[in-house]
Amino acid sequence: MRVEILNFLKDKENYSSGEDIAHKLALSRQALWKHMQELRHLGYDIVAVPHLGYRLLKIPDKLYPWEIKYRLNTKFLGKHIHYFEKISSTMDVAWDLGKEKTSEGTLVCAEHQTKGRGRLRRHWVSPKSKGLYFSLILRPDVLPSKIPCITLLSSVAVSLAIKKMVDISLSIKWPNDILIDNAKLAGILTELSAEQDKINFVVVGIGVNVNNTRTDLPKGAVSLYSSFGKKFDRIGLLRIILEEFEKVYLDFKANGPAFIIDQWRKLSYIWGSRVKVTLSSGKIEGEALDLDSDGALLVRTSSGVVTKVVAGDIVKTN
Ligand code: BTN
Repeated sequence: MRVEILNFLKDKENYSSGEDIAHKLALSRQALWKHMQELRHLGYDIVAVPHLGYRLLKIPDKLYPWEIKYRLNTKFLGKHIHYFEKISSTMDVAWDLGKEKTSEGTLVCAEHQTKGRGRLRRHWVSPKSKGLYFSLILRPDVLPSKIPCITLLSSVAVSLAIKKMVDISLSIKWPNDILIDNAKLAGILTELSAEQDKINFVVVGIGVNVNNTRTDLPKGAVSLYSSFGKKFDRIGLLRIILEEFEKVYLDFKANGPAFIIDQWRKLSYIWGSRVKVTLSSGKIEGEALDLDSDGALLVRTSSGVVTKVVAGDIVKTN
């Protein structure tokens, strides 16, 4: 009922009389009053003026599932949402849900993570209600060798979404760091449950620094707030990310990785540069040549050998 009341108020520019709302939603006036109190308790700023009625003035800056779903234009992404005020990491919950056969597109999001994690066992700083911290469960019917494409498609989708919200020049650092002027704005972590020739599920964890102030950001990171000096609508951005993500993902499933690879090539700045790559097996240095059709990075070392890099960390050295 809460959601129906909110939607009713959101659709009205002006005051709605209690009588009208109660009648349309088949509620008693007393039940309506109780719901209004609950909504205020959740942070909604609702005024009540005698003879005029109720009016919604402000929606709280919280990733409430019903707010994310409000006018969300997706077929399956974000249709099921698990929301937490505080959690160790959305990856842990999503991983358990993945094992339980939860439907594809399920979203796990949190206001605050106490053990947010990044690639290569790094910590992901997740201050309360400042950034976006969420994980998506996907069940792509592709071979495990195509997993780099899922990572690349995630960074392409998040970049396209951010560019849709703000006019900004972004770049991607392989495989999935989204940068503004070389400083990290967003990161993506992909975790995979697979057998030899079959993916069971993939958890894509996305962290975006949205309204973090400089003191809430680790060294070398940037937020939309620190770049533009104004606050951004986290729910609105999350909705756009889900919509872009679904579009890019469905295109990948229907037509393969061509679109992602093309977009990724355009957004990356390393082509032709010298890079140092840290792999689990050691380090290599060479020229960043291109992406192959599986999304792996091709690096030509000084001996002329072209190495296919599937996982690792790169630094540009010139
Ligand atoms: C990276 O750049 O190293 C990847 C960072 C991924 C952070 C996100 S925040 C939501 C999800 N939960 C986590 O613990 N990590 C990912």
